[in-house]
Amino acid sequence: MIIRTLGAGAGGGLPQWNCGCPQCRAARAGEIAAMTQSSLALSADGQAWVLLNASPDLRQQLAATPALHPRGLRDSPVAAVVLTNADVDHIAGLLSLREKTPFRLFATASTLTVLAENAVFAVLDPALVTPVAITLDQPFCPLPGLEIIAYAVPGKVALYLEGPEVETRAMGEQTIGLRIVQGGRVLHYLPGCADLPDWLCDRLTEADLLLFDGTVWADDDMQRSGTGAKTGARMGHLAMSGPEGSLARLAGLTARRVYTHINNTNPVLLPGAPERAALFAAGWELAADGMEIVL
Ligand code: MLT
Ligand code: MN
Ligand code: ZN
Repeated sequence: MIIRTLGAGAGGGLPQWNCGCPQCRAARAGEIAAMTQSSLALSADGQAWVLLNASPDLRQQLAATPALHPRGLRDSPVAAVVLTNADVDHIAGLLSLREKTPFRLFATASTLTVLAENAVFAVLDPALVTPVAITLDQPFCPLPGLEIIAYAVPGKVALYLEGPEVETRAMGEQTIGLRIVQGGRVLHYLPGCADLPDWLCDRLTEADLLLFDGTVWADDDMQRSGTGAKTGARMGHLAMSGPEGSLARLAGLTARRVYTHINNTNPVLLPGAPERAALFAAGWELAADGMEIVL
């Protein structure tokens, strides 16, 4: 399985258009690598590819990835897109795939309904773009030889769908993890996850590779940096640090462990940060745009 991180950033990317935090300033100065928004490309054979989420930066991501360039006059190696939720940073890129090339669009029925209720997504020609409803816990194959099982993980509805009361650790179709298998090798992809209960930690022990939610280092990253009032928990993202954080909860895994969907306010992005050193010391890696892993 070939895994390519198209974008390792969270919503807003790095630098974010309106942010002057130390990480965004360092990225503008060229001191650290910029990150586009969360998306991954997968292939079994290097020929046909599936995108896991379609970020608002997808046009730029495709341009930067020769394996995803057309091989003919009107063509794309992208055969399918799988969505893990309906967040803007995971669906807006669908609008860049509107120029009449067929692909299959896999998402839960509730995420497909969100798209169907937003008229702008009607630009995806229904004669060419085939929505396929994912049934949780049932395998499907977006590409020959590549099997995926989607499962509910704790999470919330997309920001723009929030009502006055928000259940931030809801279990259902709104936020899913993906178990991807090819040639006996197992990848789990969870770019958004609000909690790691025992059953989920147990489930992840089988992974050869884990790509996990790296949005925030501490629950109060945004408050401490003065960039905002929201906690990671309120945004539906589990912190890396702390006794219930992903570093501690997943310490027993044998999988290669990589954080992705990294928010620009996360201090681990700065060279020399103690948080970054702690993450590496715990055996984790940070994804970067264009990172390729062959599993
Ligand atoms: C998130 O991951 O929390 C969302 O992408 C936030 C957003 O919609 O900008
Ligand atoms: Mn996001
Ligand atoms: Zn910033």
